[in-house]
Amino acid sequence: METIFSGIQPSGTLTIGNYLGAIQQFVELQNDYDCYFCIVDEHAITVPQDRLKLRNNIRSLAALYLASGINPESSTLFVQSEVPAHTQLGWMLQSISYVGELERMTQYKDKSEGKDAVSSALLTYPSLMAADILLYNSNVVPVGDDQKQHLELTRDLAQRFNNRFNDIFTIPEIRIPKVGARIMSLQEPTKKMSKSDENEKGFISMLDEPKRIEKKIKSAVTDSDGIVKYDKDNKPGVSNLLTIYSSCTGESIKSLEAKYEGKGYGEFKQGVANAVIDTLKPIQDRYAELVNSEKLDDILDKGAEKASFTANKTVAKAKKAMGLGRVRK
Ligand code: AMP
Ligand code: TRP
Repeated sequence: METIFSGIQPSGTLTIGNYLGAIQQFVELQNDYDCYFCIVDEHAITVPQDRLKLRNNIRSLAALYLASGINPESSTLFVQSEVPAHTQLGWMLQSISYVGELERMTQYKDKSEGKDAVSSALLTYPSLMAADILLYNSNVVPVGDDQKQHLELTRDLAQRFNNRFNDIFTIPEIRIPKVGARIMSLQEPTKKMSKSDENEKGFISMLDEPKRIEKKIKSAVTDSDGIVKYDKDNKPGVSNLLTIYSSCTGESIKSLEAKYEGKGYGEFKQGVANAVIDTLKPIQDRYAELVNSEKLDDILDKGAEKASFTANKTVAKAKKAMGLGRVRK
């Protein structure tokens, strides 16, 4: 069976962008692959975090993965910092990463732009991400399209390591969903929906109450055409709502356009709101049962143990290939 690895940062409550762009795919894929789903807390600290909020976010993210349908019996769910192999291999991969290629990453440019105190970890973050993936001999990495560049770098680093030292890493493939790869902000539909957006009206959190969801969708930016049609360049707001609607219900964008032909944005937005609420409500109910449970801790303990077993074997191979440590006489 092939292996899948993916990670999400515990840097705030997940948005429907994370759900439709990432988790929904994970749930679909988990029966066909040996899956590792990681809460990448070491990635989150590349920008300043409040320690209590971070701790809560880690738990909350774990509960959301499970509430969304990740099955801990078949998939391995764990917290990155509980498996030391990640930073160990991350360091080794940093030693073969070039500053120039790291500086070219658009996420680094975006997050560091205009800031005078940028952590060095923000720059070397892709080397750690490569370690996450390569530790498990992952074949496929499902992510939203913003992670494409990091995945390409991961492939380059794996190849570089294999050529320079020993052929130990599997070269992973990226997998991006067809619909929902990039959910945009409700307020600025040319910008990605992000859980760290200052404007709360721009995103829908997976834990927003139904009333709040409805309110946010009703105030989403559209245009003055009054026509429900997908046209990403000229009608980014309406196109984004169509994408959200379609990803939640599985109905095609074509059929949604037909359904709302001749109808106004008010009715359309109500339809979008209902689709989002129907998708999130059952997840929210399961979340409430899980988030403070011992069961959650047991699942994460077991996950870290299982992940460590595989990851430690890869670290041992990588150390040997690079000449690190000793060989007993
Ligand atoms: P992050 O929130 O940046 O840790 O992202 C976690 C996962 O969700 C990654 O696979 C991202 O590509 C995906 N993701 C984040 N935001 C969006 C979005 N607005 N639309 C689609 N996918 C997203
Ligand atoms: N960098 C990813 C993001 O911000 C999160 C991540 C870390 C990840 N390690 C990963 C995603 C490994 C996939 C595979 O979204």
